[in-house]
Amino acid sequence: MSTAPRPARSPSSGVPAGAARNLIGIAGEPIERMRNIVREARRIEPSQILQGRLVATLFFEDSTRTKTSFVLAARNLSATTIDLSTGSSSVNKGETVIDTAGTLAAMGVDAVVVRAKQSGVPGLIARHLPGMAVINAGDGRHEHPTQALGDALTIAEAFDRQDLDLAGLRVAIVGDINASRVARSNIALLQGLGASVVCAGPPTLVSGSLRSLGVDVVWSMDEAMDGANVVMMLRIQFERYAAGRGAISSPREYRDMFGMTDERSRRLGPDVVVMHPGPTNRGLEIDPAAADGLIPGGARSLIRTQVANGVRTRMAVLRDCLSRG
Ligand code: CP
Repeated sequence: MSTAPRPARSPSSGVPAGAARNLIGIAGEPIERMRNIVREARRIEPSQILQGRLVATLFFEDSTRTKTSFVLAARNLSATTIDLSTGSSSVNKGETVIDTAGTLAAMGVDAVVVRAKQSGVPGLIARHLPGMAVINAGDGRHEHPTQALGDALTIAEAFDRQDLDLAGLRVAIVGDINASRVARSNIALLQGLGASVVCAGPPTLVSGSLRSLGVDVVWSMDEAMDGANVVMMLRIQFERYAAGRGAISSPREYRDMFGMTDERSRRLGPDVVVMHPGPTNRGLEIDPAAADGLIPGGARSLIRTQVANGVRTRMAVLRDCLSRG
């Protein structure tokens, strides 16, 4: 048996200390690192700090917002980008994800941005390829850390929390929470920044066991809205449920019970903000006018702001993971 000392490992990724800086999740990472990324996102400007660095996107699941914003973010910092996504990689010929990522590393890629259907894929790549930074762009039901970082930036700006202290704010997360990586990352980050979180939806989508994460769980939209400063609606992820076993019994009933309808937006009023990570099922979890913030006297919609902030946030994440200075 070897008696060689084992290298120290970072808390969430299990990657040897001194290896590339990854972002696999929010849970388990020091909150101060996350605070620094959001602070940086607030002030970051296009520059040449990543000139000569290679950033690859490796997406095994569809994306509009995350992939595009990572590409824009990398280009804003003068990195070279490569896209290797579903349909174009040799994973379709039977190559393992590790071999595909290892091929990118052998070609000198500095950072790979990974989206996967299965939870744990970005962490697995990070453990096998410690020389390349791995950034999680959403894995299964596990985490979507850059979405949560952008959401925290959006909330801090909306409520003028320059210091990123969200104490006193109550965030209601509504919808398909059991299946949601966005919810998992947001719960960890928002609580770390001092906000209180309540999760709401039907019991089939929102388990009471979520309370172990320190959140309140309610199965009523009225209770979720009561005292909320932020109402974050989530998409019903039909693709994650087996055919024939619907996530909800009836779209109409779901909208009536848990949707952000025009009436609910009006009831919340303009001091409350409505968010949604997208893509939205308009007319199901959120009505079109409520999504677009078009209800007179209704809640403010920050959905487009979340998208815009996604670019700045991903610039800050790339800087955090790759910048030497
Ligand atoms: N919010 C989000 O992850 O959107 P995309 O699936 O379009 O990247």
